[in-house]
Amino acid sequence: MRGRPHTNGVPMTPPGLPMETERLILRPWRDSDLAPFAALNADPEVMKFFPEPLGRAESDALAQRVGERIEAEGFGFFAVEVKGGPDFIGMVGPSVPGYGAELPCGPCTEVGWRLSRAAWGKGYASEAATASLAFAFDTLDRDEVVAFTAVQNERSQAVMGRIGMIRDETCDFDHPLLPEGHRLLRHVLYRISRERWEAIRSP
Ligand SMILES: CC(C)(COP(=O)(O)OP(=O)(O)OC[C@H]1O[C@@H](n2cnc3c(N)ncnc32)[C@H](O)[C@@H]1OP(=O)(O)O)[C@@H](O)C(=O)NCCC(=O)NCCS
Repeated sequence: MRGRPHTNGVPMTPPGLPMETERLILRPWRDSDLAPFAALNADPEVMKFFPEPLGRAESDALAQRVGERIEAEGFGFFAVEVKGGPDFIGMVGPSVPGYGAELPCGPCTEVGWRLSRAAWGKGYASEAATASLAFAFDTLDRDEVVAFTAVQNERSQAVMGRIGMIRDETCDFDHPLLPEGHRLLRHVLYRISRERWEAIRSP
C-alpha cells in the first residue's frame, strides 16, 4: 500500500507480526486485501451495526488508514487470513481510539473485529481476538483492554464474553461520533484487566 515504510526497498513488518493462532494468521495489510475488504464493507449484514455500508473508495481509504497505523505504531486492526485460505477474511486487532478521551473509560486500548459473513460461525473472531488480547497485554504491556459496540450488536457482545471480557454496566455510553437520536447511539462497554487475563489465559 502507498506510504509503506521501507528498509532497502523491502517493506518493514512490525515486531510480533505476523501472529499465528491454531487456524489463523494476523498480519499487516496487502494490496490484495482491498477487494475482499470492499466486498465485506458493502455487505449490509456485516455493516448492520455501523452507520451504513461503505463504497469502494471509502473502504480503500479505511484500509489505507488502518494499514498505515499498523506500520507507524506497530499495531492496529490486523488483516486476518485463514491458514490454507481464504487469504483475507477481515480485520481484528488492538487499537487506541482517537476519541478515547470522550469514552467513559477514558483513553484506552480496545480490541475490535469485522469479518466477512462467510467467516462467521466458525470461532474465527474469538480466536483472533484472543490473540489480540495476548498482543495487547504481552507486547504492548497494557493493564486493561476494552471493547465496545452498539447495544443491539449481540454477536459482537458474544465475542466479548467468549474471550473473557466483562460488561461494565456503569459505562454504557452514547458514541461520540454519532449524532443525537441515531439508531446506534447507545453503546455498551466490556473490559478485561491484566489480572483477569492472566487468570483465564491458557497455560
Ligand atoms: C462480530 C462478529 C465478528 C462475530 O462473528 P461470529 O462468527 O459470531 O463469532 P466467532 O467467530 O467467535 O464465532 C462464534 C460462533 O462460531 C461457532 N463455532 C463453530 N466452530 C467453532 C470453533 N471451532 N471454535 C469456536 N466457535 C466455533 C460458535 O459456536 C459460535 O456460534 P453461534 O454464534 O451460533 O453461537 C461478526 O458477526 C461480524 O463481523 N459482524 C460485523 C462487524 C461487527 O459488527 N463488528 C463489531 C463492531 S463493534
